[in-house]
Amino acid sequence: MVKICCLGAGYVGGPTMAVIALKCPAIEVCVVDISVPRIAAWNSDQLPIYEPGLDEVVKQCRGRNLFFSNDIEKHVAEADIIFVSVNTPTKTRGLGAGKAADLTYWESAARMIADVAKSDKIVVEKSTVPVKTAEAIEKILTHNSKGINFQILSNPEFLAEGTAIEDLLKPDRVLIGGRETPEGQKAVKALKDVYANWVPEDSILITNLWSAELSKLAANAFLAQRISSVNAISALCEATGANVTEVAYAVGKDSRIGPKFLNASVGFGGSCFQKDILNLVYICECNGLPEVANYWKQVIKINDYQKSRFVNRVVSSMFNTVSGKKIAVLGFAFKKDTGDTRETAAIDVCKGLLGDKAKISIYDPQVTEDQIQRDLTMNKFDWDHPIHLQPMSPTAVKQVSVTWDAYEKPAFLFDGRNVIDAEKMREIGFIVYSIGKPLDPWLKDMPAVA
Ligand code: NAD
Ligand code: UDX
Repeated sequence: MVKICCLGAGYVGGPTMAVIALKCPAIEVCVVDISVPRIAAWNSDQLPIYEPGLDEVVKQCRGRNLFFSNDIEKHVAEADIIFVSVNTPTKTRGLGAGKAADLTYWESAARMIADVAKSDKIVVEKSTVPVKTAEAIEKILTHNSKGINFQILSNPEFLAEGTAIEDLLKPDRVLIGGRETPEGQKAVKALKDVYANWVPEDSILITNLWSAELSKLAANAFLAQRISSVNAISALCEATGANVTEVAYAVGKDSRIGPKFLNASVGFGGSCFQKDILNLVYICECNGLPEVANYWKQVIKINDYQKSRFVNRVVSSMFNTVSGKKIAVLGFAFKKDTGDTRETAAIDVCKGLLGDKAKISIYDPQVTEDQIQRDLTMNKFDWDHPIHLQPMSPTAVKQVSVTWDAYEKPAFLFDGRNVIDAEKMREIGFIVYSIGKPLDPWLKDMPAVA
């Protein structure tokens, strides 16, 4: 029986391993983590992450060929294939701070694997890492390797949160990069055989290591770029009377462009896009490519612009101040069907409004009050560094309340996702702002938003 161990029981490690266990009954899969509460939650009825369809998959496999454990060394020692799916946050200090990927968690995982391994292992990069990381990992693993053969593969994950199970069951593609040596290709085949249990052969792409690592960063950069493109156009729509939904539809009808990922919004959030683009920018700079770095940096700049433009619109609509005014925020997670708040646009919007002394009342059925309070008091990038968590600031706590009832009626409605039927709301007396849509007369008379 092939044994798989996955380091990191997070948003990627948990669902990915659950689907491998579901589709490969002959493989024993153990997901391990340094976090005791996280593993306890995976072993309980209240899983640590909310993901449609995940509960059913875990229920079917847990205890059969899917296990969750904190006994990391034991399971690493026993495994044939080790997936590393630990966090790779943006560095908060030192060289490359605010851009480069922090590989501390990855490096410590690799050192531990080197220490405890007693037989040959295939080590799979599942985390998103800078291109060329496999070279560094190889050095750590093979230094003092006691004659053990380690093969490193890059197998980046393309799932999106909220649709993780669907994406894992029917991936657009599975990407595997390996060394072009006979041993490297043997390892590639071993991993390909795992996916071949349910993924069609022509959807499993084999490349060299660096192409696989870079493809992940490039794919996220392309996706985020589409959102920044449509968001940039949304600002022009508001200035001209065009409607961004109509423009995006017309543009997306071109089969070369396609309709997906063209929804204007208050800005993209989530743990990946910003982090991975900053990482890409840093790699370009390190490789002496400042023009390429600046090109991708612009995607983040437009995203930040879109978030502050939204805040400015809210403030300017209400006579240029929201001081003491009560503002209800519906939805706090970074997208629908998830409770994940990492880099959610709601944090920047709420912080912007709090900066103008608004009183905000937040409603999101998937997010706890404690999480919201933490998010609003944490420094940028600290969310992915559990050891640097800041204590909560009493000021923010006072200005923010969290509610479990969404039905309180303000006079203004600012729709950062274009999900509200604006005409219906206007009929019952609301002043409505929808991103990229023709403006209400009220908003037109207010000072311009820069
Ligand atoms: P996460 O924070 O949810 O999970 C990472 C887990 O790794 C944590 O539970 C942490 O305790 C654990 N960990 C850290 N160091 C460890 C160690 N040495 N040994 C064992 N466990 C350790 O992160 P995530 O969202 O699952 O992301 C993981 C990686 O996958 C990142 O590189 C991310 O960029 C990438 N990725 C994420 C997504 C996504 O949608 N979240 C999609 C594709 C790729
Ligand atoms: C993303 C990638 O899609 C996925 O392939 C990768 O593996 C991880 O990063 P995720 O961040 O989970 O996945 O969600 P995604 O659906 O990409 O949404 C990211 C953000 O963009 C959300 O805040 C979403 O609301 C926003 N978005 C998405 C838009 O504003 N407009 C769109 O048209 C699409």
